[in-house]
Amino acid sequence: MGSLEPLEKYAKENNVPIIQKEGLNFIINYIKENKVKTILEIGTAIGYSTINMAQIDENIHITTIERNENMYSIARKNIKKFGLNKQITLVLNDALNVNVTGKYDLIFIDAAKAQYIKFFEKYKHNLSKNGAIITDNLNFHGLTKHPEEIQSKNLKALVKKINNYKEFLQTNKEFKTTFYQVGDGISVSKMD
Ligand SMILES: C[S@@+](CC[C@H](N)C(=O)[O-])C[C@H]1O[C@@H](n2cnc3c(N)ncnc32)[C@H](O)[C@@H]1O
Repeated sequence: MGSLEPLEKYAKENNVPIIQKEGLNFIINYIKENKVKTILEIGTAIGYSTINMAQIDENIHITTIERNENMYSIARKNIKKFGLNKQITLVLNDALNVNVTGKYDLIFIDAAKAQYIKFFEKYKHNLSKNGAIITDNLNFHGLTKHPEEIQSKNLKALVKKINNYKEFLQTNKEFKTTFYQVGDGISVSKMD
């Protein structure tokens, strides 16, 4: 099994946003504690989180969706390098255009933040009975707490969307969500 350090280094040098260590450890623990075997990930980037999750247990199967061709081809190489082709199915497409039919114990949303509600609504149908939808970056580097301090219009709009998503989760009648102040802010939503 190779080291994941080169991927961390690549992400840092090329400004690829990958999950923070604390958030990753949280998800790894969740997978172990809940004996998760099937995972759907929205947003692969270079395959860092996918590879980490697949390495927990060889019986874990992951479908991961990435729309950026460059990211996709880097992820493909990395997954191959780690010998995880059998455990990971990598899909090149916009996650909003993919038709996924299976049920998953864990759905990890880690893609375009402005579309979180859409991803949630689309993929909740693919959740297995006791499964969970986990979302990352809910603090968006602390910006969601003080939106009034943000100067950039685009950033302000994005932060507003993330806060809308949080409200959507808090008021959701179908799902009960717990928010964790780990990494960049993580939520775990389970069917109520
Ligand atoms: C935060 S990165 C993913 C990081 C990865 N999960 C990790 O921790 O190693 C987000 C990725 O989602 C991809 N993405 C954004 N919107 C998407 C969409 N609608 N469908 C598929 N991929 C998307 C981006 O191209 C980017 O590579």
